[in-house]
Amino acid sequence: MSVLVTGGAGYIGAHVVRLLQQQGTEVVVVDNLSTGQASRIGGAPLVELDIAGDGAEDVLVQTMKDYKVTSVIHFAAQKQVGESVARPMFYYQQNIGGMANVISAMEKSGARDLVFSSSAATYGMPPVAVVEEDVDMKPINPYGETKLIGEWMGRDAAKAWGLRFAGLRYFNVAGAGWDDLGDPAILNLIPMVLDRV
Ligand SMILES: NC(=O)c1ccc[n+]([C@@H]2O[C@H](COP(=O)([O-])OP(=O)(O)OC[C@H]3O[C@@H](n4cnc5c(N)ncnc54)[C@H](O)[C@@H]3O)[C@@H](O)[C@H]2O)c1
Repeated sequence: MSVLVTGGAGYIGAHVVRLLQQQGTEVVVVDNLSTGQASRIGGAPLVELDIAGDGAEDVLVQTMKDYKVTSVIHFAAQKQVGESVARPMFYYQQNIGGMANVISAMEKSGARDLVFSSSAATYGMPPVAVVEEDVDMKPINPYGETKLIGEWMGRDAAKAWGLRFAGLRYFNVAGAGWDDLGDPAILNLIPMVLDRV
């Protein structure tokens, strides 16, 4: 019995991998190392794979069977808002294509629990200061749209074949639980802060 973490070599995923390892849970990581680093996963098995690539679903099914995966935490995605506006089809291909392969592989292998790293970008520009879970979701860029569609995919698989699905919509993450797991990208927060000084 183990947990598969897609994008486990990335900023947030590596934190989850370490926490799972600390509580004694078996973890397997699937990552194409496009922004992640293999050194961040603390000896967990790494399957190097583009989850949106040709044949990825079959590799995911085999990985889930080999490691007796019962649960998946899905982080692997492209996440740059500006780039998603310039290259929308790349974002749809990666984020939606990747998620379709993950969910299909879960159905085929018998893994039933999925936590999806969604985003507050699903809300767009909500007309309230405090955004509650039931505020209307109106994303304003392709990145946010891919996250909203990802939530629909999870919901629909839950209805169709019993996937147990949760999507977490968080805002910009900052800081690190361990010194070696800091965010190697400075895409969001630091430019925003520098704009204001
Ligand atoms: N960082 C934030 O503030 C934030 C906020 C809300 C949601 N999220 C979401 O959380 C997730 C993780 O974000 P992060 O900040 O850790 O990003 P990150 O870029 O550090 O991690 C993403 C990981 O996924 C891997 N990856 C990307 N595309 C892949 C593919 N096609 N196949 C296999 N692996 C692939 C990368 O190599 C990397 O290891 C993303 O889905 C992101 O959209 C992030």
